[in-house]
Amino acid sequence: MKKIHLFVFLIIAIAGLVPSQSFSMESPEKPITGDQELLTPKPLQSPRINGPLVYGCRPGHPFLYRIPCQGERPIQFEVKGLPNELLLDMKSGIITGKTPAKGEYDLIIQAKNSKGKDERKLKLVAGDKLSLTPPMGWNHWYAHYDRITDQMMREAADVMIKSGMADVGYQYVNIDDCWMNAQKNSDPLRVGPLRDDKGNIIPNKHFPDMKGLTDYIHDKGLKAGIYTSPGPRTCGGFAGAWQHEEQDAKQFANWGFDFLKYDWCSYGELAGKKVTLEGYQKPYVKMGKILKGLDRDIVFNLCQYGMGDVWKWGGEVDAHCWRTGGDLGFELDRIFDVALKNAQIGQYNKPGEWNDPDYIQIGWIGNANKMGIPELTPMPASMQYAYMSLWSLLAAPLIYSGDMSKLDKLTLNILCNPEVIEVNQDPLGKCGEVIQRNKECFVMIKNLADGSKAVGLFNRGKSPADVSVTWAELGITGGKNVRDIWRQKNLGVIDDKHITVVPAQGVVMIKISK
Ligand code: GLA
Repeated sequence: MKKIHLFVFLIIAIAGLVPSQSFSMESPEKPITGDQELLTPKPLQSPRINGPLVYGCRPGHPFLYRIPCQGERPIQFEVKGLPNELLLDMKSGIITGKTPAKGEYDLIIQAKNSKGKDERKLKLVAGDKLSLTPPMGWNHWYAHYDRITDQMMREAADVMIKSGMADVGYQYVNIDDCWMNAQKNSDPLRVGPLRDDKGNIIPNKHFPDMKGLTDYIHDKGLKAGIYTSPGPRTCGGFAGAWQHEEQDAKQFANWGFDFLKYDWCSYGELAGKKVTLEGYQKPYVKMGKILKGLDRDIVFNLCQYGMGDVWKWGGEVDAHCWRTGGDLGFELDRIFDVALKNAQIGQYNKPGEWNDPDYIQIGWIGNANKMGIPELTPMPASMQYAYMSLWSLLAAPLIYSGDMSKLDKLTLNILCNPEVIEVNQDPLGKCGEVIQRNKECFVMIKNLADGSKAVGLFNRGKSPADVSVTWAELGITGGKNVRDIWRQKNLGVIDDKHITVVPAQGVVMIKISK
C-alpha cells in the first residue's frame, strides 16, 4: 500500500503541484483548534427532520432508510403516502421493505416529541438511479488503515447513531481495504488462503462474520460498504476480484453490502503501460454491469484517481461517484487547490453522478505517509470549516474518514450542521462555481433547487480578510434575505452586496434567497 501511495505522491510532486505547507502532518504542533468559536449552534430539543429531499432506489430490491431527525428522543414518526410495500417503525423512524414499482412517490414525513413537531417532504424515485444526492457516511481508511476489524466497524456504526451523525444524514458505514487475506502481511491474522475451493473470497480472521456485520449495521437503519480491486491484489496487497468479479459481487450482495469502492491498484499490471480510454474503462464497465444486474441496490464508487478523465464517462459505466485524484491524505495542506480543481470539472456533477475529491479528514486521523495511529489533526479549525464548506458546495460525497471512537466537539460541530449539509444534498445536484478569485480569496456559488444560492466566501491567507460579493456578480437584483448558514442566523434583507471579514484560512458561508 505504501508503495502505491508513494507512487501517487511522486507523480503529484513531479507535476510540481506540491506547494509550501501551511501546516504539517509530519510534526503536528499543538493543534490550533481554539482559534475560532464553534459555529454550528446546538440543535433544538424539538424535532428537526433532515436528510435528502429525493431518494433513488431500484424496484423490487430490499429497501432501508432511517429518517435522519434531530431532537430529544423519544420521537414518534409518521409517514404519509408510504407505498404498501414499505413499513415504518414509528419509534426508530426506520423504513424497511421492498422498493415499489417504477415511479415517484411523494412522502410527507412527520416527527413529534414532547417539545414540538416537524414535517418534511421526501420524494422516493423508484427507477434506475441511486445516490440522487451525494452519498454520506464514514470510511475506515484514514483512521485505521490495515488495523481495521469487525469490532471497529460495529463501533463506528454505534457512534454514527450515538453522536447524532445519522440524525443529519450520515448513513454508510464503509470498510476499505484489508478485510481479505493476503499472501504476506505483518499481521498473521490477515494471512491465509485467498479463496476456498469453489473460488469464494475468504475474509481474514478480523472479519469472522460478514453477514453478521452488515446485519448489525442494518439493524440501526444504516448501510454497509465494502472495498475491492479489479486487479489480482488490492492496494494493500490483499486478494482482489480479478477473474472472480461476478462471484465476488454476488458475495457482497449476499453478505448484504450496499456500497462498493472499486480501486484500480494492481489492475495497472494487467492494463499495460500505455492504457487507452477503453483500457481505463474496461474493468469498470464490467463491474458496473454486474452490479446493475444484482437484486440489491449497491452504490458503485470508482477509485482510479481520475485517470482517463473519469468524470466524462463514470456515469456511462453505471458508477455513482468517482475519485477525481490521488489520495487526499497526502495533500491535506492543499484542500483549497483540490477543491478549486474539482470546481473546474463541476459540469459533470449531476444527481446520481458525483465527482469525489476523497474523504473528509478532520478530528483524529492517522498520518497517511506512515499509515499512522490517529492523532488530532493539526489543521486550523477555520480551515476545517472551509474544508466542509467546500465539499458541500462542490456536492461531493460527504464521507468522514477519521476515528469515530474519538469524535471531539469541534469535529462533530463541523460534520453536523444540517444547513450546510442541505447545500450538499440539494436535489439540483449542481457543483459550486468560482465566480471571483484573487491570490488569497475566492467566492464559490452553488445554485439550489428552490431558486436560492449558497455562497462560500473563502480566504486562504494567513490573516483575516474582507471578502465581498455583489448581487450583480450573482445575477440577481433587489432585496434578498441573507443567512449565515454555519451560524444559522438571518442577517436581514440586503439590497446589493454582502461584505464580510473571513477568518484566516477560513470561510463564511451564506444563503441568499428571496
Ligand atoms: C488507495 C485508495 C485509498 C485506499 C487505499 C487502500 O490508495 O486511493 O482511498 O482505499 O488504496 O489500500
